[in-house]
Amino acid sequence: MPRIQMRTLLLAALASGVLALNVPIPLVAAPAVPTVSPSLISFSIEMDRWTDWVGTTARNQFFYNTLDNLKQLTGAPPFIRVGANSEDHTNFQQDTTFAQAIFPPPTATVPYPEATNITVGNSYYATTRFLPPNTHVTWGVNLGANNITAAFLQTRSIIKAFASPEFTSAGIVLDYLEIGNEPDLYKNNGLRPSTYTSTQWVQDWISFAKNISATAGLSASSHTKFLGASFAGSSHTTTGFSPQAAFRAGLLESEPGRLISAISQHRYSGSFCTGNGGLLQDLMTKSTIRGNLTVFTPDIAATHAQGLDYILGETNSYSCHGAPGVSNTAGAALWTLDYALFATQLGISSVFFHVGIGFKYSLIQPTVLTRSTLDGSPLSSPLPPHVQPQYYAAIVAAEGLGNTGRAQVQELFVDHPQVAGYGFYEDNHLVRAVLINSKAYLTKANLRTSVHLDLSFSGSGENIPVMMVVKRLAINLATDVSGLTWGGQTYETSDGRVTGSLKVDNIKVTAGVDIMETEAILLEFH
Ligand SMILES: *[C@@H]1O[C@H](CO)[C@@H](O)[C@H](O)[C@H]1NC(C)=O
Ligand SMILES: *[C@@H]1O[C@H](CO)[C@@H](O)[C@H](O)[C@H]1NC(C)=O
Ligand SMILES: *[C@@H]1O[C@H](CO)[C@@H](O)[C@H](O)[C@H]1NC(C)=O
Ligand SMILES: *[C@@H]1O[C@H](CO)[C@@H](O)[C@H](O)[C@H]1NC(C)=O
Repeated sequence: MPRIQMRTLLLAALASGVLALNVPIPLVAAPAVPTVSPSLISFSIEMDRWTDWVGTTARNQFFYNTLDNLKQLTGAPPFIRVGANSEDHTNFQQDTTFAQAIFPPPTATVPYPEATNITVGNSYYATTRFLPPNTHVTWGVNLGANNITAAFLQTRSIIKAFASPEFTSAGIVLDYLEIGNEPDLYKNNGLRPSTYTSTQWVQDWISFAKNISATAGLSASSHTKFLGASFAGSSHTTTGFSPQAAFRAGLLESEPGRLISAISQHRYSGSFCTGNGGLLQDLMTKSTIRGNLTVFTPDIAATHAQGLDYILGETNSYSCHGAPGVSNTAGAALWTLDYALFATQLGISSVFFHVGIGFKYSLIQPTVLTRSTLDGSPLSSPLPPHVQPQYYAAIVAAEGLGNTGRAQVQELFVDHPQVAGYGFYEDNHLVRAVLINSKAYLTKANLRTSVHLDLSFSGSGENIPVMMVVKRLAINLATDVSGLTWGGQTYETSDGRVTGSLKVDNIKVTAGVDIMETEAILLEFH
């Protein structure tokens, strides 16, 4: 090649900001690779506005569609947990129609605060029937108020609903009852004395669970079990609040404790009520995502050692229902995708993203909003139901997992601080891969770099893929709150269903693939 031409090419490569990176991909899953639930990305729903999500006398079709989209991709709908903060402020009155809730006034930092007092009746729990068929549900009952009658009446009503023919014929099942939300915070929020310990919590839990297990008819052979812990934080040791500490205090040796089949913990990456580009980059960064999850390694090991399942039963980016300009953006979608997929590598079986009406970090806004989710100011025109950028992460993960119900996920070794990758395997054979470039592209004034990925395969006796279909999650800026496309298509529609013509590239594997700053791609191998 003439020297001058080579220099031109080199300069062009530099100007385009392309860096080449070799990504080794095993063709066969390693023996310890986890089989991942099709409902990996699931939802935790704030209880106070439950009927806004699901519907009252008829289903909320928008919400239903957003769940059904995922079911169509994986064969199973997301799991639904209803509870959280308002779970410990709920009482029951037989004749209450749906729910009556008292909300504090909105503020600029929390435009949609949780109700402080909710009263629900039988018709409230009965609306669970509007979820897609075969949905697995967790309901929270009140421990915080320390009123066993309230918890007993709630339980009786929940069980009555799930036993009705509309539930049984649709296969809508109660996986778990959760008794109380974040009891480790009771000492701070006034629900218990400031000296409240995990040993006292274990005693409280056992006394409530004795009544509730008898009321609900739970047994070693019943499908419904208890979800244990649901702590906001963890000491990760046998003192303070942690699964380990609760086990040491005898939680699992008690009669109702033997009906716990999974441990749930909650996680937020931090508490920021205002946002900026730096905070968004921090959220998205590969190493901070890993740091926020690997802290649970001892808790997961202690839980698995007891033969129990381990879930993140409530999680999302930042408290205050999300940081404005961060949690509600396209960058947060990439965080969601990497976070949920990385969680599988640690033995976390499902990740329930917390959502609420008007919450900044809600993947879905299932009702009309009249005030801003960012600062509480009145909107000039009502905002119809819509999905937020994070919803695309659920779609991408669902397509990665596919519809066999038994995909295995293995993190790929990608030697780059801002590129993460996962291989998806069916019956041990590589079928797909997801790659994520988490460098936040924040302004059009900057050059948007990309990384060229060359794929190299390992695994003897396997056919090396020749062609691959490349599907892109296209994002303009990391701070965008809408306008994302997935394979050229959009879910930002009035009914939550996908529209637009599918745009994918079918290319030679040997050509490799470019991934831009703030982009995720799905590769399907042939
Ligand atoms: C909560 O609301 C119910 C029904 O409106 C009412 O009876 C009850 O007194 C309230 N409880 C508190 C603690 O405000
Ligand atoms: C549970 O508590 C309620 C309210 O105190 C009581 O009426 C009921 O008999 C209890 N049930 C069991 C099985 O202990
Ligand atoms: C406990 O809940 C029951 C059932 O709703 C209610 O009748 C009772 O007043 C509550 N007790 C207290 C102390 O609030
Ligand atoms: C969790 O993520 C945040 C950024 O979102 C980061 O600031 C923090 O250091 C991370 N925590 C850990 C333990 O890695």
